[in-house]
Amino acid sequence: MKVSKKVIGVEYAIRDIVLAAKKVEQKGIRVDYLNIGDPVQFGFQPPDNVKQALIDAVNNGNNFYSTSEGLFELRKAVARKENAKGLSLEPDDILITNGVSEGLDMVISSIVEEGDEVLLPGPYYPPYASYVRLHGGIPVEFAVDLENSAPYIDDIKSKITPKTVAICLISPNNPTGVVFNEKSLRELVDIADQHDLYIICDEIYDQIVFDDKFVGIGKIAGDSAVIILNGFSKVHLMSGWRIGYIALNPSPKLDALREHLPKLARVRIAASLPVQYAALESLRGPQDYIAKFVSEIKKRRDFVVKRLDEMPGLSCPTPKGAFYAFPKITDNRFGTDKEFVMKLLETKGVLVVHGSGFGSQYGSGHFRLVYLPDLGVLESAMNKIQEFVSQ
Ligand SMILES: Cc1ncc(COP(=O)(O)O)c(C=O)c1O
Repeated sequence: MKVSKKVIGVEYAIRDIVLAAKKVEQKGIRVDYLNIGDPVQFGFQPPDNVKQALIDAVNNGNNFYSTSEGLFELRKAVARKENAKGLSLEPDDILITNGVSEGLDMVISSIVEEGDEVLLPGPYYPPYASYVRLHGGIPVEFAVDLENSAPYIDDIKSKITPKTVAICLISPNNPTGVVFNEKSLRELVDIADQHDLYIICDEIYDQIVFDDKFVGIGKIAGDSAVIILNGFSKVHLMSGWRIGYIALNPSPKLDALREHLPKLARVRIAASLPVQYAALESLRGPQDYIAKFVSEIKKRRDFVVKRLDEMPGLSCPTPKGAFYAFPKITDNRFGTDKEFVMKLLETKGVLVVHGSGFGSQYGSGHFRLVYLPDLGVLESAMNKIQEFVSQ
């Protein structure tokens, strides 16, 4: 039986590469998994009050379908959070989703038609391109200055065509850790306004920044067509519970989307109700666990970036946020970045992700490494990478 061409084209390098790691393990080699950006798999856990809220919701009988748009109290708490970042939202501007991933699918399927182009920061988090393609669109990468954490505005302008419908921003970025400052965000919003483009801004790492203060798109959204995607997998350490949201700037430009997007929310019924209670507690309860988490991973970032940058044949800009290093392979005797990554896996048992998995145009020639494991594991992985590049 045939399957669609669209599904054949779907790739997700971060998880696809695990198949290769399993084969290496079958040969008796121990593998350090530095591929998946999930803090909960590396010893960080949601705080007890949040776990208790989930248990209480279950015990209190909240085991039925939620309303499609999500629990009112949670939408209210999310609106408060986003308003503190600069927007002016009401609970009705929020849709609760099963993670950012579902929110992204819903938004892209609502705005992209066959042949439409969507601008993505190069390199980008892979589902952005996958969902654009699945819905018949064409992902178009724009260049970002990874050393200075800024988009190349002229490159973006040169890539806008009559087919462009949206520009996606991911700040802090996966895989590069780039965080856009206020000036860059303002320039991006201006361009989008001039060309009537949607601005889809993924802020899932909004509180995981190390050096400069985070500025959200909300601060400069004005009445532009800004759609925020956010969730609880990273900052709130709830990755396995699958919960996130879409926030629509109350701009008249989003009126049509506001009318039709909730239909998609109804078709997929709802997000998990007990998990919504836990998410509510994670916003309402003490927030000090976030600062502890961020200060812990900052130590890991500093260690990993220094080590990688000192290695022969690698150069590693300092990521400003999230939990990924994205070194450039300046001297690659293996040919492509994918071959480099496979050889590293097969000979040293260190699993990272090839940069081209995050977009061939700007991701090639790099690899992505997650610096969430504890310093002992990271030190051993760094020693192995050092041996590998020094051979
Ligand atoms: C930029 C970005 N957006 C979304 C996600 C996935 O979010 P969720 O777990 O809420 O589906 C990730 C996970 O790595 C990510 O890096």
